[in-house]
Parts: sequence; C-alpha cells; structure tokens
Amino acid sequence: MSSLDIVGLCGSLRADSVNRMALNLAASLMPDGMRMEAVEWREIPPFDGDVLAKGLPPAVLALRERIRRADGVLIATPEYNFSIPGVFKNVLDWVSRGEDQPFANKPVAILSASPGPVGGARVQYDLRRVMLFMNAMVLAKPEVFIGGAGAKFDAAGQCTDETTRKFVGDQMRAFDKWVSAVKRMS
Ligand code: FNR
Repeated sequence: MSSLDIVGLCGSLRADSVNRMALNLAASLMPDGMRMEAVEWREIPPFDGDVLAKGLPPAVLALRERIRRADGVLIATPEYNFSIPGVFKNVLDWVSRGEDQPFANKPVAILSASPGPVGGARVQYDLRRVMLFMNAMVLAKPEVFIGGAGAKFDAAGQCTDETTRKFVGDQMRAFDKWVSAVKRMS
C-alpha cells in the first residue's frame, strides 16, 4: 500500500470557508495510505521585492520546505472576481521565488467551491496557468467545481450532498494514482 503525504492549501482565510470544508471533505475521502495535512499561510507577508532581496521570510521558507517534503499538494480555493484571491496569489508568488521552488514536478490537484452556480470554474484555469509556470504536475481530470456550496455543507462543515461526495472521492482516487505515477517518473 502506498504512503503519500499531501499538503492541503485553502485559498481562503475565512473561518467558515466552504473551500476549507471542501478541502476537509477531500481529505476524508482519500484512499488508504494517502493523508493530508492542511497548512496555514496567514503569517506570510505581502510580496515585496525589497524584502526578498534580504532573504525569504521565515513563514515563506517554512511553507516552501513543507511543500518540498510532500508527495503532492491539494488546493481548494475560492474564485474572486473570476480569478485567484489576491491573498492566495501572494502566497504562490512568494513560494515561486528562488531556483529551487518546490512546486517543480510536484503533483497538484485543484478543486473549488462557491455559493454561485459555476463553483469557481474560472479560478481553476487561472490557477492552472500559474502552476504551469512553476512546472507543477497538475492533475487534469476529473475536475471538481462545487456550485451552490452553501446548501451542500451543514453547520458543522460536513458535506450532505452525495453527488459532491462522489465527485470529490473520484478525484482523490485519480490524484492517488497521479501522485504515484509522477513519483515513478522522477
Ligand atoms: C466573491 N465570490 C465569488 N464567487 C464566484 O463564484 N465567482 C466570483 O468571481 C466571486 N467573486 C468574489 C469576489 C470577492 C472579493 C469575494 C469576497 C467573493 C463569492 C465567493 O465565492 C464566496 O464568498 C465564497 O464563500 C468564498 O469562499 P470561502 O471563503 O467560503 O471559501
């Protein structure tokens, strides 16, 4: 049986984030041997080239190191104005700096949730573009867009929608195979 360590990143800082609920749902549906640790990034400062010139801040170094150690990264992010939330893009910008940036050849899976009908579909394509620049190995399919998310999770953050559970479970099984396949290639 495989033993895969996955870093979970939520693109939202909100305590009641539906994307954090989706991330936790995905973790609960991972196949045996795959486990996710949700990693917080609130301490990462706004990107500033003058700060970078003095060295990567400790919170950035810690996140880079955690990603480097992981077998894969799972991202659940909201869509803000059809794109990546600025605070989360800021995190990706910091992590991308330096020659040994940790997303290179790293298996990544993406999902998104929104109260709106499209489930954050548009942010995923912007995020895929950013990940492409960083040479990440992003799982192509199945895609997961959780629309109408407010009605699909209860007050405790548990998913009450069987269809959503099936889509997310299918994605996690595909991610498990993808992470193992990328590891075999490298
Ligand atoms: C939004 N929201 C939103 N939703 C969407 O489907 N497409 C969009 O383009 C936007 N744009 C947007 C911009 C900003 C600045 C905010 C604050 C919100 C709504 C968004 O999906 C909703 O607030 C989610 O609940 C945010 O995700 P979390 O924090 O619940 O994970």
